[in-house]
Amino acid sequence: MNSTMDKIREIEIGNLKPATFIRDQVAAISEAVGNGVAVNALSGGVDSSVVTLLGHRALGPRLKTYFIENGIMREGEAKRVAALFRRLGVKVEVIDARKQFFSALAGIDDPEQKREAITQTFYKTVFGPLVKKSGARFLLQGTNYTDVEETVAGVKRQHNILAQLGIDTVKTFGYTVLEPIIQLRKTGVRKVARLLDLPKEIWDRPPFPGPALAARVIGPVTPERIAIVRAATAIVEQELASSGAFQYLAILHQDKVTGVRGGRRQFGLQIEMRCWESTDAVTATPTPLPFAKLALLADRITDEVDGVVSVTYNVTKKPPSTIEAV
Ligand code: XMP
Repeated sequence: MNSTMDKIREIEIGNLKPATFIRDQVAAISEAVGNGVAVNALSGGVDSSVVTLLGHRALGPRLKTYFIENGIMREGEAKRVAALFRRLGVKVEVIDARKQFFSALAGIDDPEQKREAITQTFYKTVFGPLVKKSGARFLLQGTNYTDVEETVAGVKRQHNILAQLGIDTVKTFGYTVLEPIIQLRKTGVRKVARLLDLPKEIWDRPPFPGPALAARVIGPVTPERIAIVRAATAIVEQELASSGAFQYLAILHQDKVTGVRGGRRQFGLQIEMRCWESTDAVTATPTPLPFAKLALLADRITDEVDGVVSVTYNVTKKPPSTIEAV
């Protein structure tokens, strides 16, 4: 597997010339796709946003951009992202795939099996037919250097790693995967995003995992449990947006605990909050948030999210923790 890393040459931040990078990647996409059509999935994160604009520059309307509504995204994402890119001149088609994702995730507890179910649903069940319909032979995706590194090291199987795991995408899914930002880490991607004139709300956005809120639900992933973690996430994101932290999130635990509400016992849910200082997500330390902020978060989450009776804050470093829970 180390030979995989040897083949991909990292462009370190000090060596990155964003304008040259953009020119080279646009040319590479044009050359690979020729007169054909390519598709890509836009999630609204900085990685897929950069790839969308690189692809759009190279191919114009011959790049078909989809937002996959998988049911496990944050509140209001599909509408927000589609509207933002419409303003940038990129048409985004929203595909409702909620049923497919929830049925693939049904009954799965194991983290790596969840990731595998999401990968298969995304590439095979959802993108297979879309690619066929569009006549595309290429899928553009925003795999970055850290995604490959973590998967190859066996830490976590990132949802978007295929060729590096020996998966022949043409044979398995019927299309070639192009990865224009695979040599960059997040800081490099953000630099490129700024030069592409993406708005600050995109290039400055905290990272969000490909498996989305499913990476933050311990145990079964159901629409009801996603709704709980989604509501807690919205509160954590509102309260910590100005913290300057690298990433902040809410996790729904599987175990319940005894609480008390209105003088009566409530055997309820537990939410764990995490807030990280990091530059590359490879190592991270917990942000020393003021206790008053933590207390406010606990109050809001227990008041506003149905069934939650316990809120905790994780103070463990990565390693041995990871940033997400699953
Ligand atoms: P972990 O949890 O491995 O996360 O410490 C490191 C960084 O990567 C994000 N992450 C993912 N990103 N696909 C992605 O595109 C994934 O499967 C995935 N899992 C985690 C995570 O949010 C953090 O920024």
